[in-house]
Amino acid sequence: MIPTRIEQAFNQQLNAETYSAYLYWSMSAALEAMNLPGFANWMRIQAQEEMTHADKFFRYLIERGGHVKLTAIDGPPAE
Ligand SMILES: [Fe+2]
Repeated sequence: MIPTRIEQAFNQQLNAETYSAYLYWSMSAALEAMNLPGFANWMRIQAQEEMTHADKFFRYLIERGGHVKLTAIDGPPAE
């Protein structure tokens, strides 16, 4: 079993990684709007990488018998 404070910290980090993906995704959309598809694609790749990080925390919690507690993700800036 995983200590409660570690479980909470991992859940917080899972949320932070997911927020980072949102942020990159938002930047990708802004770059698409600026007709910069190459930069936009690079931002989408970064978003995928952040979700890979989030999944590592998700899987660690599951493998250690912890509980995954998904919480609301803040909306990133649109511009
Ligand atoms: Fe990350």
